[in-house]
Amino acid sequence: MTIYIASDHAGFVLKELVVTYLSENGYNVINMGTSSAANPVDYPDFAHAVVRALDTDREAYGILICGTGIGMSIAANRFPHIRATLCQTEQEAMLARQHNNANIICLGARIIDAEQAFLCVKQFMTTDFDGGRHQNRLDKIKNNIQI
Ligand code: RB5
Repeated sequence: MTIYIASDHAGFVLKELVVTYLSENGYNVINMGTSSAANPVDYPDFAHAVVRALDTDREAYGILICGTGIGMSIAANRFPHIRATLCQTEQEAMLARQHNNANIICLGARIIDAEQAFLCVKQFMTTDFDGGRHQNRLDKIKNNIQI
């Protein structure tokens, strides 16, 4: 499985730890930056890099890390092929896959520590989508069904 990962400066240290964790566990990880915690960058630029990668590699997953994970999730979710979810717990990561078929997990480096991030990422990467009624709901989001 290929995983595209990116962060801003606030997420840099956690991103590097997650890259190491996933690589050691056999995943093909493509690190799309940023490359330093010292140089402030704009999180949308890095969200968009992963969004573009998932547009051409539809079976892949993405990981986006900023200070809170909030900015990354807002930026990524503007694109129809993206279902990005901010996760702080293993339960959220599991349900994001089972119910929402999320293809990007967003993490807040100022909110959770590395061990918690590893647990969330592991759960996300190893949980399948349930389909069924959940696919109907995703179709309504995709088609912008109006009430
Ligand atoms: C950067 O200071 C911070 O705003 C960013 O990492 C993120 O938390 C935004 O949502």
